[in-house]
Amino acid sequence: MSQRPRGILIVDLGAQYAQLIARRVREVGSWCEIHPPRTAMQAAADMDLAGIILSGGPASVYAPDAPSVPEGIVDLGVPVLGICYGMQWMCQRLGGQVEGSGEREFGHTPVHVERSEGLFAGVQGDTVVWMSHGDKVTQLPDGFDVLASSKSCPFAAIGDGTRGFYGVQFHPEVSHTEQGTAFLTNFVKNVCGLPCDWVSDNIVEREVAAVLEKVGDTGEVVLGLSGGVDSSVAAMILNQAIGDRLHCIFVDNGLLRKGEREVVEEAFRDHLGFDLTTVDAADRFLGKLAGVTDPEKKRKAIGYEFVEIFDEESKRFRNANFLAQGTLYPDVIESVAVHGGNTATIKSHHNVGGLPDDMQMELVEPLRELFKDEVRRIGAHLGLDQRLLMRQPFPGPGLAVRIVGEVTAERCAILREADAIVTTEIEAAGAHEGLWQYFAVLLPINSVGVMGDARTYEMACALRIVESVDGMTADWGYLNHDLLRRISNRIINEVQGLNRVVLDISSKPPSTIEWE
Ligand code: XMP
Repeated sequence: MSQRPRGILIVDLGAQYAQLIARRVREVGSWCEIHPPRTAMQAAADMDLAGIILSGGPASVYAPDAPSVPEGIVDLGVPVLGICYGMQWMCQRLGGQVEGSGEREFGHTPVHVERSEGLFAGVQGDTVVWMSHGDKVTQLPDGFDVLASSKSCPFAAIGDGTRGFYGVQFHPEVSHTEQGTAFLTNFVKNVCGLPCDWVSDNIVEREVAAVLEKVGDTGEVVLGLSGGVDSSVAAMILNQAIGDRLHCIFVDNGLLRKGEREVVEEAFRDHLGFDLTTVDAADRFLGKLAGVTDPEKKRKAIGYEFVEIFDEESKRFRNANFLAQGTLYPDVIESVAVHGGNTATIKSHHNVGGLPDDMQMELVEPLRELFKDEVRRIGAHLGLDQRLLMRQPFPGPGLAVRIVGEVTAERCAILREADAIVTTEIEAAGAHEGLWQYFAVLLPINSVGVMGDARTYEMACALRIVESVDGMTADWGYLNHDLLRRISNRIINEVQGLNRVVLDISSKPPSTIEWE
């Protein structure tokens, strides 16, 4: 992107919360970027820099593997907010003192506001913050005053209003810190003087301009539309930029949920008038899956077939010289190893897993600098169909990871019907609020039942209902008795081939969300 907006540089010092800091800063309405210490000075030079946040991190400033922050980061003439480790590093760098306190202070901690100014403007009296530190600052650098203190931490928040330097021994970015948003708003808006205009229409305008600059007046773009939020919003931005020079490809692999193809076709072709090609590829995928029961082999077979089809289809657009992907910012942030100082790793892209090495097309990634919540907000702003906007996470390999054992057309059809009942009933009861995913899984067992007077010997399905924040960990979610009964009754009465419904009450870890 040629023109970077004015914003905040977040230096990731190995923080568990670096991305959360960035999301909060964006929510406050300001552009920001996360960089490891190694590239921080270059990033500062490339950005239109308004301020810096030094994140927390697990190291002690005295540890040999402590991230070595570039010394000059405090000499750039812009305000700096140090959080935990960031504060300690800054104090040490500016002539203060940091010592191991012997006791760790962790969790909810009341602090008393000593000065209601700068970072603490508008915050008075006592407030609760989320502490997490072992070392602490014992002597302030020249020019700093105490803004807040706790029982065991006299320098819980400090500041030098003249230089715009602030340090907090707690995490303003987590929701447990009562006035966290106020602290970040004060820093971004009042201390750094940012206009806080990083909002949906500005973001869209900027991304549209960037696409136009990259693709030019004649370039054509191919995009694999999955119906997920990311590819859908990417398509909408691209369409705003280049109209019918965007060619969307939707692969019906026979592993979709009930009505999914229709929603995508309705939303994009009928309603928005996009150039959308649906590829009927159920036979191809199911052919490759015949006799395969090993979960990894299933995934590989599906991934391979996707790439093949995509490759074939994109050849039909001979003038298309660009391939669009819905890559998000968390996929491209260089992450700092939590232990091990400055060793940085770059996450591999997982979007189009197996792009051919000899691919001739250039990539366009309009969401590359955005977080998922921003993408959802933009989707809503651009009028993306609610059914797509609020869609549950759905794995690329589709129902295949929810059919234990062999994937056949018949077993897909059975699962599709049962899953539709689960979704419809949970949503109709309003029980989906707060749930991460809710779906049915087809099990590879038959069991005995009775229907009317007849004995049955049919398959079983499991209900997987989970609460989660990011899918990394999860707990099984609770549905009330009546709702469970309704779901079970409907599945057994309406779906031919099923005579038993069981409930999965396993958390992740040690179980996973999908059964595979
Ligand atoms: P597991 O089963 O590993 O799933 O606990 C964690 C989350 O990831 C989703 N998932 C996928 N998402 N492509 C995706 O985009 C995939 O191949 C894939 N596999 C699992 C899963 O639905 C859950 O939300």
